[in-house]
Amino acid sequence: MNWHASVLTLFPEMFPGPLGHSLAGKALRESRWALDAIDIRGFATDRHRSVDDTPCGGGAGMVLRPDVVDAAVGAALAAGPDRPAVVLTPRGTPLDQSTVRRLAEGAGVVVLCGRFEGIDQRVIEARNLQEISIGDYVLSGGEPAAMVLLDACVRLLPGVMGAADSAVEESFSGGLLEYPHYTRPAEWNGRAVPPVLLSGHHAEIARWRRAEAERITRERRPDLWARLHPNAAEAGAMDG
Ligand code: ADE
Repeated sequence: MNWHASVLTLFPEMFPGPLGHSLAGKALRESRWALDAIDIRGFATDRHRSVDDTPCGGGAGMVLRPDVVDAAVGAALAAGPDRPAVVLTPRGTPLDQSTVRRLAEGAGVVVLCGRFEGIDQRVIEARNLQEISIGDYVLSGGEPAAMVLLDACVRLLPGVMGAADSAVEESFSGGLLEYPHYTRPAEWNGRAVPPVLLSGHHAEIARWRRAEAERITRERRPDLWARLHPNAAEAGAMDG
């Protein structure tokens, strides 16, 4: 069985969208993964096909109903039961590469896209939905976040990415941000390629790249750097 993603959304027409192009789209056409976008509104039971209601306790906006969401999650799981179910929401656990790797290694994923002000907490608990955020900013809905999550998973599936991307994945596994890249010409608009990269000395090139990756990680992501080098602050103090 191929890796199976089911997306529960009020806007199924948004899918596959970007996932139908480039690497993920090619993999989709090659059946390395399967995608179904399921319309949450299809599980509404009343005459007006309502999927949301006003928040208990008052306040702005609308909340997705637990009965409708539960029926939609149930239908998705019936089509592939051995899959974790997640919900995209800005209040979720931040998405990282280890979560992506864990999901990609499984049978697939059921992804619920949040809309309105939120989803009734009881169905999140009853269905044990893992709440995931793609970053500290607020989107108008979970659909673009679902696309981010799926893209990150799909590129790790067997046979999907090329050698270059595999190397990038490995370098991120090492925990550092990537070193800068250059191609020809050797000088462009008065800017030179770092001479070491044209030297042909493979050991020196590797050393330079490693040093640049470390410098960029320290500068841009002190949080990542501190996790890799828990004693770096002390070491730095001793150097100084
Ligand atoms: N829905 C709205 N904002 C989001 C975010 N930052 N991450 C995941 N889902 C979201």
